[in-house]
Amino acid sequence: MNTKNYIYELDNFIDCLYVYNKAQKLLNEDWLELSDPYALGQYTDNENYYIQVESDDYLSSIKAKFPKLKSYIKLLKSEKGIWPAHVDNWRITAINIPLSNIEGCDTIFYKDNYVKKDSMYSPFGKVEGTWKSNKWITYIETKEELFKHQLTKPTIINTNKPHSVIKHTEGYRIIASWTYDAPFEQAVKDFSCQ
Ligand SMILES: [Fe+2]
Repeated sequence: MNTKNYIYELDNFIDCLYVYNKAQKLLNEDWLELSDPYALGQYTDNENYYIQVESDDYLSSIKAKFPKLKSYIKLLKSEKGIWPAHVDNWRITAINIPLSNIEGCDTIFYKDNYVKKDSMYSPFGKVEGTWKSNKWITYIETKEELFKHQLTKPTIINTNKPHSVIKHTEGYRIIASWTYDAPFEQAVKDFSCQ
């Protein structure tokens, strides 16, 4: 499978353990125990729980090399279960950074022949419900799966492409997501000539 329009793994982008230690200061029990769709709204997308890049010398030095990186990094927690298929609305490219408990979790990418939905009934993490498309994501009905990817190293993700997440194992996967303000193809170019 040709994954070149979807993902691009980076070998020397960032010290994941450093980001993990930053994340540990922000994560809390409530966050980890709150089911994923609610944890996204209450914590991931809440600026009080962002890693702030500009107050950190190491992260600032990375942003200085790649100025299209945003000035904050979000943290995402996924529990056992599914995140329904969607495209991201608020950004087109992200660099996702694995932090902890990354085994047994696939991001599934689909062909572009999807149908946008205003809402969708689906499991989401450990709960099930009707989820409305919103400013962050548009839910979609997919036609054809293309490939699965396991986030084991920092990876540029084309979040414009349809994707879902399935975590097969118990425990919370924690990743960091650093938005890159450029189309995926540009991001790949920028990082290939570092
Ligand atoms: Fe997404």
